[in-house]
Amino acid sequence: MKFDTPATANPIDRQRVVGQPLARIDGPLKTTGSAHYAYEWHAEAPDAAYGYVVGAPVAKGNILSIDTHAAAQAPGVLGIVTGATAGKLNKAERNTATLLAKNKIEHYHQAVALVVAETFEQARAAAQLVKVNCQAETGAYDLEAAQPEVTTSPEGEPDKTLGDVDAALHSAAFTLDATYTTPDQSHMAMEPHASMALWQDDHLTVWTSNQMINWCHTDLAHTLDMPMEKVRVLSPYVGGGFGSKLFLRSDALLAALGARAVGRAVKVMVPRPMIPNNTTHRPATRQRIRLATDAHGHLTAIAHESWSGNLPGGTPETAVQQTELLYAAANRLTGLRLAELDLPEGNAMRAPGEAPGLMALEIAMDEMAAIAGIDPVEFRIINDTQVDPLHPERFFSRRQLVQCLRTGASKFGWAERCAQPGQRREGRWLVGMGVAAGFRNNLLAPSAARVQLDAQGTITVETDMTDIGTGSYTIIAQTAAEMMGVPIEQVSVRLGDSAFPVSAGSGGQWGANTSTAGVYAACVRLREKVAAQLGLDAESAEFADGHIHASGQRLPLTAAGPLMAEETMEFGDLDKTFQQSTFAGHFVEVAVDSATGEVRVRRMLAVCAAGRILNPKTARSQVIGAMTMGLGAALMEKLAVDTRLGYFVNHDMAGYEVPVHADVPEQEVIFLDDTDPVSSPMKAKGVGELGLCGVGAALVNAVYNATGIRVRDYPVTLDKLL
Ligand code: MOS
Repeated sequence: MKFDTPATANPIDRQRVVGQPLARIDGPLKTTGSAHYAYEWHAEAPDAAYGYVVGAPVAKGNILSIDTHAAAQAPGVLGIVTGATAGKLNKAERNTATLLAKNKIEHYHQAVALVVAETFEQARAAAQLVKVNCQAETGAYDLEAAQPEVTTSPEGEPDKTLGDVDAALHSAAFTLDATYTTPDQSHMAMEPHASMALWQDDHLTVWTSNQMINWCHTDLAHTLDMPMEKVRVLSPYVGGGFGSKLFLRSDALLAALGARAVGRAVKVMVPRPMIPNNTTHRPATRQRIRLATDAHGHLTAIAHESWSGNLPGGTPETAVQQTELLYAAANRLTGLRLAELDLPEGNAMRAPGEAPGLMALEIAMDEMAAIAGIDPVEFRIINDTQVDPLHPERFFSRRQLVQCLRTGASKFGWAERCAQPGQRREGRWLVGMGVAAGFRNNLLAPSAARVQLDAQGTITVETDMTDIGTGSYTIIAQTAAEMMGVPIEQVSVRLGDSAFPVSAGSGGQWGANTSTAGVYAACVRLREKVAAQLGLDAESAEFADGHIHASGQRLPLTAAGPLMAEETMEFGDLDKTFQQSTFAGHFVEVAVDSATGEVRVRRMLAVCAAGRILNPKTARSQVIGAMTMGLGAALMEKLAVDTRLGYFVNHDMAGYEVPVHADVPEQEVIFLDDTDPVSSPMKAKGVGELGLCGVGAALVNAVYNATGIRVRDYPVTLDKLL
């Protein structure tokens, strides 16, 4: 089904179920511990053995030999898999480094072996006995030292330019030229990367924890050189992904290899201390921003260049994306610079691109506002644009950034803020407020679903969409209930199975809008089938109260008998006709201890314009979680690089700090009515990642307002304020 004209009237617009703040339908399963996560499919394979991953002991080099003799003799050991014994493995295109090293070590803790034993403890003990003899090589691990490398965007595009930035800077009334740094960060999902694999003849089933079933399915089959029909991937519950589970990772592959080697089901969990170096992370960035304004504070030039590193073949952090679209200015330059580093693979994490990009841009905007002597809310408002600045004929489908900022300023009490920093004192606390714009693009992807009506009138939805803690089960049930006119209790949703139609999956905040649009499409087909079965006209029919109303008749759905419909919602080229983005105004109040430099966040507010909000309760949960991540990014999160040995030193949750409840203050979220006429028949957009984009900068700007200290190097730890 194509969707390439603006949806006008459709059943979703009734909003009897969609748009309601319903509690998660999967909530009771989770709170009672009866939702099965990847490591918990006990009944499916009661005799499962346990695999323990052996990670590379150096960051770069060659494996000369792996001595497994002692490990093989250890108690309970059933088998050991290495690159040499694993058989033919293809490399999946979505993986930069190979998931099981053969001869070459590409990064620290890259998997080099799997030890399988009767118990987890036996596998772990035996893994310590595996001796990896390798020849270490010198690698590049320091982004600062690796600066003058390749210049490229992910697609190898050159810089995007308009006008003459240098000339505009030269003739400007006010200018800024500042460099900001963001560190390497780790996703730290609560559920580790974990999988269980079971072979039945030549068919493989893998229960895993993954955001994108189809990517995992495709890449696992390809890596094992198997036809996709012989591989099944299930991931119905995911304990957090944040981008770390977008791809096939070592746990799933090694579980499959281990299970094949020992002839039994095998569970593999990447141990917490191995996750930051074995899996992916958000790469550090160094971002130079130059701004120029005229005497009235109108931007005349914006230049944003971002340096990041990755393994050979990897892509840069796309930290300049928002800068292409957020503010007007006649002279522009945006570009990405990529350095080859031998650190673990850099990849998507929690709003890749915009999240770290706004951490820099929105401090720069705060600095520029101060230089130009303009209130930072007002400064952003006067530099708003309603068109894509590089392609002025392209309008945004919806763009309410100004409304977000104005609403936020009024609700937050922005008028109370002292323009001069360091003025507001409460005992030993210095108090300040900060603002930042939030921006995240709205991505579209085809998404398929299958819906069934059974003899009892139950609607069952099946799609390989995942629920990574986001509320997918609930909004999909709401969509089907609305479309078919049945109570939500009469809808059963089944997700996260490669046997189901291929959805858009969970990533880049596209999941909610696209997966429900796929369900919408399948329901349109089912409605047609129901109508046809009963000899009624589908176009004019209304589905409500478990009945179909048409041509003066009212018939129960069950009269149509069991029926099934499957459909993919494919979007047209709307993303080219209109620029689709989401917007927010983020406001933060902090108190800084004038003696110790301790920063306490007091209040946070996000005002979001992100299309129709399908469920204000689950959407709010997404946004407050994201705001919490922004707090972490501003104040705590940093992987410390050992630039001699090439690994992340603080590779567990003792050393890598994330916010806890006591760090998180009152959070408020306001959703503007932003029903988008063209995003999809749902008229929704993504909101989860928007909640993070801009928060870090708003917080750092509040620290500046409180103290007068401008920190450009994340995270803002105590030492930077003393
Ligand atoms: Mo997101 S970082 O695309 O899971």
